[in-house]
Amino acid sequence: MAPALTKSAEPEKPVKPSAILHRTPWQPPIAVSGEGIYLDLEDGRRIIDAVGGAAVTCIGNGHPEVKKAIKEQVDKLSYVYNMQLSNQPAEELARYLVNTGNGAFALCGFVSGGSEAMEACIKMARQYFYDTKQPQRKNFIARQLSFHGNTLATLALAHHPGRRAPYADILHDANFHHVSPAYAKRFQRPDEMEEQYVERLRRELEDKFIELGPDTVIGFVAETVVGATTGVVAPPKGYFKAMKSVCDKYGALFILDEIMSGMGRLGTLHAWEQFGDGVAPDLQAIAKGLGGGYVSIGAILMSQRIADGIRDSAGFWKHGHTYQAHPIATAASLAVQKVIVSENLLANIQTQGAHLGKLLNDRLLSPNSPLAPFVFDIRGSGGWWAVEFDFDTPSSSKPAVDLKGGAFAIQVQQRCLEKGLVIMGFHGGSNVEGTNGDHVMFSPAYNVSKEEIDKIVDLFIEGAEEVFGEIVV
Ligand SMILES: Cc1ncc(COP(=O)(O)O)c(C=O)c1O
Repeated sequence: MAPALTKSAEPEKPVKPSAILHRTPWQPPIAVSGEGIYLDLEDGRRIIDAVGGAAVTCIGNGHPEVKKAIKEQVDKLSYVYNMQLSNQPAEELARYLVNTGNGAFALCGFVSGGSEAMEACIKMARQYFYDTKQPQRKNFIARQLSFHGNTLATLALAHHPGRRAPYADILHDANFHHVSPAYAKRFQRPDEMEEQYVERLRRELEDKFIELGPDTVIGFVAETVVGATTGVVAPPKGYFKAMKSVCDKYGALFILDEIMSGMGRLGTLHAWEQFGDGVAPDLQAIAKGLGGGYVSIGAILMSQRIADGIRDSAGFWKHGHTYQAHPIATAASLAVQKVIVSENLLANIQTQGAHLGKLLNDRLLSPNSPLAPFVFDIRGSGGWWAVEFDFDTPSSSKPAVDLKGGAFAIQVQQRCLEKGLVIMGFHGGSNVEGTNGDHVMFSPAYNVSKEEIDKIVDLFIEGAEEVFGEIVV
């Protein structure tokens, strides 16, 4: 068996010392090559990546069209500085993003990743009001149990208790405020209809506007479908329409973070096309599926309102980084987007995603499944699914299980990796304090096959049942 992946466990083989300060308490295995959803490790194992890294590798590793595009671009032009020169692939990718936005977007700006994209949204929204002579607008309202990135401003904007904890005292909270998450299965009251729940959330947002002074609010910010914190949680029907109506009433911006949920992850290019009640954002951040992991890239998409405001005033983007609109990054991204279209991958991921959802339901909720009473929810769409467990309040007469402080989902993630399957496990998404809850996430590449989905579910169930079996003995 592969080395156990916990800090305390004794590795079977001595681990080579690393000069990298890793993000895990354990030293992660080293990958040496990849092909589609398969990754080859230095120790000789071949594993399946069922979560696309972190919902990133949307067409898998090693696609020949992307490799070709990168090589050709390196031969032609590797770098220009965006304040001196633009470049062809960046121009073409921006045009593609504007043209495929269902009329929602007029302009695009590039950055190098998700956090930079959200940071850029924050600054663009502020620039818009600064340039259009409303400098008193300085407040953002986002939501509890959200994640918008790991820079100081994006950590302050979001409310992910675990990730912000070490920095809480240095986060600039004066301009970032929070309202409740839109998570019906956890937070809708038993005596509430869906519309009443939405109305409660709408009222809470309006009250927050009024408390802050409506003309001081820059915008309301949300992940269209929430990712890491709560695990593929879509809002109740009518929610975004209601939240946008508050923004419109007070002249504020409606800003969506589609870094994880967008660029095809849920089976449509933008998540708001499915989950947004037909409401397009004023500003939107995209990243992961944009470059598919081949390059480091993110972007912000701007509506006509923003474009007009900027063009009629400063006329240019005041924010910038050295590597934005990088020729190789945009050429690779463009190739990724072309592959998604030419191979009809959104249709494929809708089909395979539906299969994944059905298998998870069939297997986890079957009468023989020891986990069935502890499955709180199985949710998702397209290529993005989560299973949330609840060991405190089982759905049948089974007694609650004491995890003794262990995070089930994290243990399942580790066990699955030992079995050759990469998934992501998260803890802390079921209460606003971020102390309870276990969910695992699946986000395979859009070109995943039915057989690969079968294998993913087999390995996951094996891993999850094994961990559970060891806890309840
Ligand atoms: C919704 C959301 N916003 C922002 C980010 C930050 O992106 P990055 O890790 O590329 O900085 C992430 C990353 O997972 C995310 O899921």
